Amino acid sequence: MSIKKVVRYGEPSLRQPSKEVHKVSQKVKNLVADMLDTMYAQNGVGLAAPQIGENYRIFVIDVSTGDEPLNPIVFINPKIIKKSGACISHEGCLSFPEAFTDVKRYANVMVKALDRNGRSFVLEAKDGTLLARAIQHEFDHLDGVLFVDHVINRFEAEEVLKKFNLPPLEIDKILDEPELSEKIDELLKEKVEKEGKN
Ligand code: NI
Repeated sequence: MSIKKVVRYGEPSLRQPSKEVHKVSQKVKNLVADMLDTMYAQNGVGLAAPQIGENYRIFVIDVSTGDEPLNPIVFINPKIIKKSGACISHEGCLSFPEAFTDVKRYANVMVKALDRNGRSFVLEAKDGTLLARAIQHEFDHLDGVLFVDHVINRFEAEEVLKKFNLPPLEIDKILDEPELSEKIDELLKEKVEKEGKN
């Protein structure tokens, strides 16, 4: 299939909610193949359909590294059925070239979705692993939510966005997340204490 152009932060389509897939048709399978080609071409860990201008509820993830065999996972019409815990996640996004910042995430998630053959599966990712965090990041794209909406340090994030010539934070989009914030504050405190001891 083919490598598509990735939509950049600032384009309104990244903020649009995506539509459910009614049938895993050949057209959908071709879209999935394009998404995988595009993700691998950009050395990404994940990619959501709206990032290539297709507002459908589909994302792909591959957390394999180095000389491990490729391990693409395709999620169609995903639902997050369980989430718990909290972690600090240092994230970037193919729609934000080179920009990374710390964001709030759940540590554990359980997701239900269809695979690329239209078969239902359930996947659980725990302990703030790359997979657990990537699922949340990609899932968000389907609702027009971006990783910077979960930002921990606004000042730092603004600096990073400016450095890489990206539009500023959309302050009205930043999420409140009181429950997650409380746990993240505890984690930040622990981190500071640990660093103080070293
Ligand atoms: Ni992204």
